[in-house]
Parts: sequence; structure tokens; C-alpha cells
Amino acid sequence: VGRGQPFHRPLLWWRLAAWSLGLGPLLWLVWRVLQADLGPNPVETLEHQTGLWALRLLLATLAMTPLRQLIGRVEPIQVRRLLGLWAYAWVTAHFAIYLTFDLEWSAAALAEDLVKRTYITLGFAGWLLLLPLALTSTRGWQRRLKRRWQSLHRLIYPAVILGGLHFLWLVKSDLREPLLYLGILALLLGLRKPWRVILRARSSPPARTS
Ligand code: HEM
Repeated sequence: VGRGQPFHRPLLWWRLAAWSLGLGPLLWLVWRVLQADLGPNPVETLEHQTGLWALRLLLATLAMTPLRQLIGRVEPIQVRRLLGLWAYAWVTAHFAIYLTFDLEWSAAALAEDLVKRTYITLGFAGWLLLLPLALTSTRGWQRRLKRRWQSLHRLIYPAVILGGLHFLWLVKSDLREPLLYLGILALLLGLRKPWRVILRARSSPPARTS
């Protein structure tokens, strides 16, 4: 790379980090499946691991905007879509494992669970809200929808809230883990507005006194 030419190495590292976060745990899980190392209840382990990674990746996606403001670099925004797509892949894998092993793809059983189990209703609603985001994630759709794309992608907030509540609902006794995730979510959501106000105040010239 010559002098003055844009040097894209930082973005490469960010992309690598995002891919590692999305693909790394998947490879680890596949390895555990191949080694028959999923414990006494393999389906439960798969549901738990995919659910946890879905939630972690959704939170990582949401963390990119505050991170950009914190470090003053654009790379977090450039890998945000990639992280979001990985999150969606994990949620869908999570859903597919439940459909395959718990319900054997019975629509009637799904309908029954949706009515009878609140945590399934919450999780399903979260997955459903993420669906249009995944479908319109391409650059073509981004161009076609213009500003509406950004509005549409705000659906990620209620979707993650539903995912967090789904986790809270399904645990029976120890609420610490879901509350930790919901706490991080609250922090990430809470960080948005005040940050913008603080940064705007910092970047605007000081008001004249005379
Ligand atoms: C935004 C979407 C979702 C997120 C973030 C999410 C996240 C999670 C998390 C974190 C867990 C618990 C993992 C643990 O116990 O360590 C879990 C468990 C589970 N989720 Fe989801 N989930 C989502 C959507 C769904 C959907 C759409 C379904 C099915 C309709 C579903 C079905 C289940 C089941 C059956 C379990 C295991 C329950 C048990 O252990 O009894 N989830 N999910």
C-alpha cells in the first residue's frame, strides 16, 4: 500500500473479529456434536447454546453504535450488518432445532406451544420481527428502501427485548443469567440518546459569552 492510499487493515481485523464471533462458536458446537460431547441431554444443550449465542450476537450488533461513538471509528458500523446476519442465523438455527427435535415439524404442536407457553410466544415474536431485517439486509434493499430501511431496522430493539424476556420467562429458579443479559441490553439502549447529546455538546463550539 502506497503513501496516502487508504489502508484498510483495521476493517479487515474488525471483519475477522465479527466472523470469529459468529462462526467460532458454531465450529465449536459442530465439533462437540461430532465428538458426541453434548452431555446427557444433547437437544437441551443445543437449544441452550444456540439461544445464548443468538442473544450474545444480537447484543454485539446493538453495541456497535455506542462503540463507534466511544472510540470514534467507523469500523463498528461497517461490521454491524455482518454481526446482525450472524445473530439471525443463530436464532434461526435455535428455532430449527426446537422445531426438529421438540415438535418434529408439527404445525399443530407449534400452534399449541405458541398459545400455551409464554416463553415460546415471546421467542417466536422476536424471531418474526427479525425476519424482515434479514430479508432486506442486502445492499439492493438498502438502496431501494433508503430511509425506510433504517426505520425498518429499528425492529431490532423490540426483537432483542423479546429475546431477553423469552430467556427470563423460561428459567425456573435462578434469574441471574437472563437478568444479566437484560441488564446489558438496558445499558446498550440507555447509552444511545444521552451519548448523542453529550457528543453533540462536545463537538459544537462553545457558546459565546459576549
Ligand atoms: C430473538 C429470538 C430468541 C432468542 C434471543 C432466544 C434466546 C434463548 C436463550 C438465551 C435461551 C436459554 C439458554 C439457556 O438456558 O442457557 C433459549 C432457550 C430456548 N428457546 Fe429461545 N430464543 C429466541 C427465539 C426462540 C424461538 C423462536 C423459539 C421457538 C419457537 C425458542 C425456543 C427455545 C427453547 C425451546 C429453549 C429451551 C427451553 C428449555 O430449556 O426448557 N427460542 N432461547
